[in-house]
Amino acid sequence: MSFCDDDIVSNSSENLSFERIVDARFGRRSMLGGTAGAALVGFLGAPVLLAGTAGASTSPGGVTTTARRATRSPLGFFSGVAMNALDNVTVPDGFIVDVVTRWGDPINGTSPAFRQDASNTTADQTAQLGMHHDGIHYFPLPKGSDESGMGLLVMNHEYTDDGLLHVGGTAPWTADKVAKSQAAHGVSVVKVERSSKRSPFRIVKSRKARRITASTPTVMSGPAAGHRLLQTAADPTGRNVLGTFNNCAHGFTPWGTYLTCEENFNGYFVNGGTIPADQKRYGISAAGSGYRWNEFDTRFDAAANPNEPNRFGWVVEIDPYDPTSTPVKRTALGRVKHEGAWVTESCDGHAVVYMGDDERFEYIYKFVSARPWRRMRREGVSPLDEGTLYVARFDADGSGVWLPLIHGSPGLDAAGGFADQGDVLIRARSAADALGATKMDRPEWITSTCDTATIYASLTNNSKRGTSGSPAVDAANPRAVNSYGQVIRWDETDEDTGSLTFAWNLFILAGDTAQADPAKRGTVQGDSFGSPDGLWMDPIGRLWIQTDVSTSTLGAGDFTNLPNNQMLVADTATGETKRFLVGPRGCEITGIDMTPDRRVLFVNIQHPGEPASERTDPVNPTAVSSWPDGGRPRSSTVAIRRVDNKPI
Ligand code: FEO
Ligand code: CA
Ligand code: CA
Repeated sequence: MSFCDDDIVSNSSENLSFERIVDARFGRRSMLGGTAGAALVGFLGAPVLLAGTAGASTSPGGVTTTARRATRSPLGFFSGVAMNALDNVTVPDGFIVDVVTRWGDPINGTSPAFRQDASNTTADQTAQLGMHHDGIHYFPLPKGSDESGMGLLVMNHEYTDDGLLHVGGTAPWTADKVAKSQAAHGVSVVKVERSSKRSPFRIVKSRKARRITASTPTVMSGPAAGHRLLQTAADPTGRNVLGTFNNCAHGFTPWGTYLTCEENFNGYFVNGGTIPADQKRYGISAAGSGYRWNEFDTRFDAAANPNEPNRFGWVVEIDPYDPTSTPVKRTALGRVKHEGAWVTESCDGHAVVYMGDDERFEYIYKFVSARPWRRMRREGVSPLDEGTLYVARFDADGSGVWLPLIHGSPGLDAAGGFADQGDVLIRARSAADALGATKMDRPEWITSTCDTATIYASLTNNSKRGTSGSPAVDAANPRAVNSYGQVIRWDETDEDTGSLTFAWNLFILAGDTAQADPAKRGTVQGDSFGSPDGLWMDPIGRLWIQTDVSTSTLGAGDFTNLPNNQMLVADTATGETKRFLVGPRGCEITGIDMTPDRRVLFVNIQHPGEPASERTDPVNPTAVSSWPDGGRPRSSTVAIRRVDNKPI
């Protein structure tokens, strides 16, 4: 049973895998990406820097060493922390950690108070922060300001641990426990402020505070809204959907809204009959992932309500500044297991959204708005409702192409089985199959600097690479079963995120430098890590990497030396990594943002205390962790600041 990461492969198409392409291009001993003027990474060596960035030399043994740049390292602002197995958040000397929001904290500051025995009611949970914090963004107050002492924290609550959430865990399983689990999912909007630059942030009462849960009314918008595949008995319009869930990473728009992304939605549905191909393509199964909502809520019976799963797997836009606004599912961005939605602006002002579909052998997408986003907003049209969705093909020569998912084009027409554009968007995975997109090792977060078109994406791992049905495994290619993952990057042509071609390379192959096997060391220079997930380029160009090694893997096998999840900072010029934070036991680190003055870094600590089974023993909820308060472990947002109060 897996609650967070779906342990399945749904893609049986013949599209080339990323590994096969890398092999074809570079051979198995010299996996090099190629972009003139950019830093390249050698597969089993250190980063190789082209002339103009730094000197590099290769020893007879094939180990590449790199002369340090003359400029100051962007990692010099802290002393790296050692990996540890502590039940605490470890940060460098000179930094302070405050806990700002916890699962169960009242969103309006005072009540209903969290009860350590899990006896809070469903109604309480609806007025408290949800479980399993994930993507997060700080919106300054007032809107449009650069205020760093008062703002809205908006965050996702990805999933629930029903062993921790309820008195007695799942025994007995009741309709009310389903309702409480649904209330612990979704999104929170809370107001936070601090009284001075030297005091911690805290949640304060606000009329903007709200919970959006798996039951909150939302509307569908864009080309697929109202489509016959979205219509159900409860909603013949195909436009009014209850709720959002499995909200993983996020995005934010230049017009001040939050994007929450529905990832492993399939696991909430159960189909006990003959599962149609389109449900199989999205991983709908007879067993589900153990949430058991279908036992008391028939809309999660995918046999009885076959279109209900089509109403999830979307990017959902929320206006955090208007507590009366209705969340909108933006169908133009396609239906996949959305990890996140990173918004940039093209050179001519179009909104460009990068998105990963997190499952083994799935794809990377981008959406480009039909017209410049400012003009569309003046027209009263959402920039996320009209535009073109593309999927990435990474070619063996280091180039790449964005392939448009447009109905009527070859393979996406009636002969290809697609009735209209809504059909293409609802079945975006199948449309991408037809176009020959490149199968990737679980695309997670995507990020970039705000003023360039160099994009970074984390590919967290792929234990099935080289096994059943994937490209042939060569003993010389030890990354075939990819337990550590990698970070890929690409330069969009003409430094324009609106371009339809790009040049790619591998930034870092993650690994453990203490491993004897060179393949398991990857190309790590500096501190070891695996399973990169959260990825965020800060306002001054430092790349923050957050890890999500599953709790069944932490401290064992390839991760023997990595008992807890962590956050590192990478130098994008050299590929050097330096560990900034180690999380408490059993947690994942995911979600990051800063105040505009860079004095406070918000980081989410998800599921501290999660056991290897991914479900807490209700009799002993503190068996793995009692962070943050010495009691029941609680997902939390921490605020990290410097002791000297300078910008981070
Ligand atoms: Fe929810 Fe792909 O992490
Ligand atoms: Ca994630
Ligand atoms: Ca994850």
